[in-house]
Amino acid sequence: MELLAYVNGEFLPESDAKVSVFDHGLLYGDGIFEGIRAYNGRVFRLDDHLRRLFDSAKAIHMEIPHSVDEMRDLILELCRRNEIEDGYIRPVVTRGKGDLGLDPRKVKGGPTVVIIARPFEVLYGDKYEEGLELITSTYRRVPSQSVSPNIKSLNYLNQILARVEANIHDADEALLLDIQGYVSEASADNFFVVRDEILTTPPTVSILQGVTRQTVLEIAVELGYKARERFFTLYDVYGADEAFITGTAAEIAPVVRVDDRVVGDGKPGRITKQITARYRDLVRSTGTPIYEKA
Ligand SMILES: Cc1ncc(COP(=O)(O)O)c(C=O)c1O
Repeated sequence: MELLAYVNGEFLPESDAKVSVFDHGLLYGDGIFEGIRAYNGRVFRLDDHLRRLFDSAKAIHMEIPHSVDEMRDLILELCRRNEIEDGYIRPVVTRGKGDLGLDPRKVKGGPTVVIIARPFEVLYGDKYEEGLELITSTYRRVPSQSVSPNIKSLNYLNQILARVEANIHDADEALLLDIQGYVSEASADNFFVVRDEILTTPPTVSILQGVTRQTVLEIAVELGYKARERFFTLYDVYGADEAFITGTAAEIAPVVRVDDRVVGDGKPGRITKQITARYRDLVRSTGTPIYEKA
């Protein structure tokens, strides 16, 4: 069975799912998206992702031509049609089909709405046991004075350039500093350090407000650890007992080397493992059911 994708009101085989070459998402990166996971027939924290999608749309002066309830229904319907149990869901909303010329007033006919839903298992494979190696990128995270990193926009060149740098250095991921030199986030993941049993992650001014990051902050409190949002520097990363990245696709992935320095004892940390175990419980047992009403 060929998987289906949703495009502007139709569920089409993926090979027929197309957008115009005049779409401003393609021409200018003028649009927004979400990355969502389904586990065990449930969509994890779907309403948090929908909220971020609608917040991103508002921030870029774009009206999604559906209500939150309609978007939720479309996502669940696509998952059902694609028989998703464990999957990855990608709603994308672009400014729509326009003309050459970036002025959004050139767009006629409203935004383009695309949803993709595919089976998905794990991103990093054995690396969850071994841990990841990060390098610090020479590119700084785009500051909120230019484009808010809170907007999950179709402009990922900042992060892609950092990821290319990581690839050149044979590292798994890149860590970006903000314009002031504080640690911000990885190319597509948030970042945490643990020292003396306290978890620290940067505040949300220079990063995407990750749904996984929020989940980890909640788990930390539930497990009795202190968790705080605070600016910190690479010095704090090199001296951390543990470090990890968080993201919908990456989940919680331990970091054991940064810029050729060993983090902690060079193995995934005890608290990282404890939080990961609780996260894995939560993703499988909570979330919006795809196949039955809650
Ligand atoms: C730049 C960036 N930071 C952080 C994240 C992690 O966010 P979430 O946990 O909501 O997937 C992502 C992934 O979407 C991202 O693209």
